[in-house]
Amino acid sequence: MALLIAASERAELFAAALRRQDPGLDLRLAPDIGKRADITAALVWNPPPGLLRTLPKLGLIISIGAGVDGILRDPELPDVPLVRYVDADLTARMVGYIVLNVLYHHRRMSEFRELQDRRRWQYLPEAAAHQVRVGIMGLGVLGSAAAEALLRLGYRVRGWSREQKTMPAIACFAGTAELDTFLAETDILAVLLPLTAATRGILDRGLVSRLSRHGRAQDLPGPVLINAGRGGLQIDADILAALEAGELYAASLDVFQAEPLDAASPLWSHPRIVITPHNAAESTPAAIAHYALTQIDRHRRGERLPYLVDRGQGY
Ligand code: NDP
Ligand code: OXD
Repeated sequence: MALLIAASERAELFAAALRRQDPGLDLRLAPDIGKRADITAALVWNPPPGLLRTLPKLGLIISIGAGVDGILRDPELPDVPLVRYVDADLTARMVGYIVLNVLYHHRRMSEFRELQDRRRWQYLPEAAAHQVRVGIMGLGVLGSAAAEALLRLGYRVRGWSREQKTMPAIACFAGTAELDTFLAETDILAVLLPLTAATRGILDRGLVSRLSRHGRAQDLPGPVLINAGRGGLQIDADILAALEAGELYAASLDVFQAEPLDAASPLWSHPRIVITPHNAAESTPAAIAHYALTQIDRHRRGERLPYLVDRGQGY
């Protein structure tokens, strides 16, 4: 019974954490797989298509990420349980990223940054939090935690998911039929959707143009987009064009269509874009190791596995 760690730049760190937590574990680090028939579980990020199929006794795939698009792209993925990563620290980090960026744009920080560069002391009016409507696309583990945190800060919060939800004090919308209604009263859009066949490219110029243009807080100069879901959700060029045309006031982007973001991309130098290198919510080696060992134990005991991926839906 061995655990394979594959296709992660941080494989050595995960291995060290796993050895600390379970010194007796038979651990293999790709490409040093050893006897393939020993491998019963795999801990992976973006495994090369076809790799997992070569492990005849594989019984469990554990994703290093909350998002599993990099695993599901394998057309030969073995039909064994796949669990995605859910962890309190990861959730707290993502909540921090969303709150930070909502506040940053609501409080017009990119304009203050520009003024500071010009050594200009200039007052800018700011809307009250209760005048700002934050819409969250994706009301799952991360989106619902972010929604609750924003609510506590006084924002008006709404959310959009695939299936209808009920959350205290949060206006919930579901499915394509309610997307326009959701967007029409959103000033700051925060995206925590998974990348699936249904969500790929959803953040295009057409969607941006459907964000609130009327009745929004007077002192928020325009709609804002925050994307920490996946780069494949967005059309980078459309976001830039919407910013240039004044259809968007500002954006915070943690994820991109191609990562790492090309040094030549015009997104880097846009004064109203905040770029982070896909680290809105980092997963720490100790937490990943604990999660993997817990799921392996449950699987060995034949217990129900929480956070099983629904392959049909793609998340
Ligand atoms: P969950 O699976 O818990 O939540 C996903 C949410 O998206 C659910 O509310 C789901 O709806 C909704 N959704 C999925 N498909 C659609 C659709 N077609 N239309 C409307 N809503 C849809 O995932 P998490 O909250 O744990 O994570 C979300 C994503 O965040 C991950 O998939 C990953 O891509 C990204 N992520 C990014 C990180 C970063 O550092 N940038 C770190 C961690 C995660 P329903 O509730 O109805 O199922
Ligand atoms: C994840 C990520 O999906 O870090 O967990 O992007």
